Amino acid sequence: MSIIIEQFKKTYGKSPVAVSRAPGRLEILGNHTDYNQGLVLSAAVAQSTEFAIAPVSGKKCTLCDFRDGSRVEFNLDEIDQAKPGDWSNYVKGMIVGLRKRGIEVGAFEGAILSTVPLSAGMSSSAALEVSAGFAFSAAFGIDLPKSDWARIGQGVENNYLGVSTGLLDQFSSIFGHHNALILSDFRTVEVLKTVNLHEGYVLVVANSMVKHNLVDSEYNTRRKDCESAAAKIGMVVKSVKALRDVTPDMLERNAHLLTRQEYRRALHIVGENDRVLRGVAFLEQGAIEEFGKLLFESHRSSIENFENSCPELDFLVEQAKSIPGCLGARLSGGGFGGISIHLVAEAESDSYCQRIATAFKLQTGKDAEMIKCAIGEGASVEKL
Ligand code: GLA
Repeated sequence: MSIIIEQFKKTYGKSPVAVSRAPGRLEILGNHTDYNQGLVLSAAVAQSTEFAIAPVSGKKCTLCDFRDGSRVEFNLDEIDQAKPGDWSNYVKGMIVGLRKRGIEVGAFEGAILSTVPLSAGMSSSAALEVSAGFAFSAAFGIDLPKSDWARIGQGVENNYLGVSTGLLDQFSSIFGHHNALILSDFRTVEVLKTVNLHEGYVLVVANSMVKHNLVDSEYNTRRKDCESAAAKIGMVVKSVKALRDVTPDMLERNAHLLTRQEYRRALHIVGENDRVLRGVAFLEQGAIEEFGKLLFESHRSSIENFENSCPELDFLVEQAKSIPGCLGARLSGGGFGGISIHLVAEAESDSYCQRIATAFKLQTGKDAEMIKCAIGEGASVEKL
């Protein structure tokens, strides 16, 4: 935090009134289940975005990104529409979202400093939204329940940027627990429990370096397929409101109602919800090998049913099966590129990272970014 404060002073010639911090997140199990009102096992990571802020008079806001030195200015009266390719959209979208609730954010000078890898699948955008929201809360005295901040962040993606993402990213950034995974229910929108990862194991991220662009990707059509599958089954089984309510048996009995594509999409979601529950039980029993197998199963389902993987991710996950020390691996997040996560014995993690990076380079000619991920605490803000 001290670095951002020092740089803020140099840039603006004054101290910020508050500095917030919001982490990126890893989806451990439960792929695309959030918008199907399902279950997800996720974690906040140690990498985070800090947001320093000082209110100013007038309408003009200034924002600096200390990571790349870029600077953006905007007028509070001219932010109704997102500007294509502008990183400050995530901040402006929060202001617009608050406005819709009748809450005004005043002008400010702000700065961000982030260690969350960009466009990789670790939710750098959610980290920025949440850090901005928490900074506004302290600087302008906005008092809202934490889950509302997550929803306002999701609204930036859904309404301001036009991507129909669920609540997972913002929720995990806010409710993450230091050193524990969180099991979240996206029907009741709550953390059901925290679950410890077995001692001696770490989560390694292998970034495929394939940049996903959710806006242009098939994310929205995946969501539509899931919703239409749930609606069709719901015509026959009245208790079904979302794929969350569909059991594996029920899906098979009603498969004839669905197109082949809807069936496969639904199979992924129903399978993922089930894997989350089995995964939590395995972790609680200390059955870490069994837990690892579920990660491989999840990835197979992404390939075969949800079709949200890509050759680079498949290669990374295949490598995990032959390099010693790894118990399981899968793509994590939206897919179509981005990251894979690998559950690796800590003692072997350095050589594991090296070997997988070498194999990836030979195969693709690209350098895979390898990150040993510590599990971090959810977002916070400090008034100075
Ligand atoms: C992206 C979305 C999340 C979630 C995941 C897939 O990260 O932002 O809401 O749907 O993909 O689980």
